[in-house]
Amino acid sequence: MAQVNGNYLKLKAGYLFPEIARRVKAFSEANPRAAIIRLGIGDVTEPLPEACRTAMKTAVDAMGTREGFHGYGPEQGYLWLREAIARHDFQSRGCRITAEEIFVSDGSKCDSSNILDILGEGNRIAVTDPVYPVYVDSNVMAGRTGEADAAGQYGGLTYLPINAGNGFTARIPSEPVDLIYLCFPNNPTGAVATKEQLKAWVDYARAHDALILFDAAYEAFIQDPSLPHSIYEIEGARECAIEFRSFSKNAGFTGTRCALTVVPRGLMGTAANGEKVELWGLWNRRQCTKFNGVSYIVQRGAEAVYSPEGQAQVKGLIAFYMDNAAIIRRELSAAGLQVYGGEQAPYVWIKTPTGLDSWGFFDRLLNEAHVVGTPGSGFGAAGEGYFRLSAFNSRDNVIEAMGRITRALHG
Ligand code: MLT
Repeated sequence: MAQVNGNYLKLKAGYLFPEIARRVKAFSEANPRAAIIRLGIGDVTEPLPEACRTAMKTAVDAMGTREGFHGYGPEQGYLWLREAIARHDFQSRGCRITAEEIFVSDGSKCDSSNILDILGEGNRIAVTDPVYPVYVDSNVMAGRTGEADAAGQYGGLTYLPINAGNGFTARIPSEPVDLIYLCFPNNPTGAVATKEQLKAWVDYARAHDALILFDAAYEAFIQDPSLPHSIYEIEGARECAIEFRSFSKNAGFTGTRCALTVVPRGLMGTAANGEKVELWGLWNRRQCTKFNGVSYIVQRGAEAVYSPEGQAQVKGLIAFYMDNAAIIRRELSAAGLQVYGGEQAPYVWIKTPTGLDSWGFFDRLLNEAHVVGTPGSGFGAAGEGYFRLSAFNSRDNVIEAMGRITRALHG
């Protein structure tokens, strides 16, 4: 008889976004005429930049010729893309990251889960609460946690609460941990970290031989030039951090799929016998065995992000979504809600009105405003009493949604 992975049976609930989709489906079946506006899952809505489309069309045509055809590519990604990434995203900001240290992939959600393949079982793991659920669920699936308690917190994980009181940036843990997941700009709260705050994490990680898993999927939304975009802007981070990046949110690649993970050479982990092992070699081995790379066509599209036209078009997309975020912040504040985030990130984090918990507010907005958001409690126990709205939608829909929410709140 085929045994199942019992760790999956520990998972507390369905993955957050399918659960939202299930509730929305039930609502729209019961109310087929309701025009629902979706500000829930952070999925982009605006067309792919022209520079990317043109590059992909050229690549498709090349694939139709004997000379321009490409079969399996390098598992790590084509060198021309890795070089463009290293130069534009890292070296231009003073980070000593080389093309060799960049692994192109089909998504940072997958990479941030798959990285557990090369990490051991006994690590003490710290996550913020609330948190992007993938970090927690992938550890549960990999058997790196105990059971969940009544609040949905898993045994064996160190939860670092983030809330309005600490500016949604976690305090350095008082107990020693080996793995730390950080996400800045933060999903779901929209908070950002200063260089000083990241330095404190890097110092902690170096002092405790810990590894930081740094998710920078939303770095392009940072508006304040003094804020770091990469953990490698911090001295010493090469010795203690892996960084995840994505083309999903900046260039609209959520459906096209392209991302990258940076594993610096010389970044070491420890084997059971105490020997130091370079993580780069393990990740390279993992990718070569389990991954066949991103398609040539998509990588050419990603490369075009770094052309002058691509850069201008991506800037336009970011400005468009950040204007949406500003509208959400302004209108909801005017409606009397307490809002956070949305200034350096495409997510606005809202305190639910008195008397409504996260799912209660979700149901009220769905039923009365036909607007879908994401309940804060879906991101962890400390997200209870909060609600996330995404700025990824058309301008008309954002304005319409804000009007409807205001009317629903004030009758
Ligand atoms: C979100 O809504 O949190 C994001 O869409 C998740 C993701 O990028 O996987």
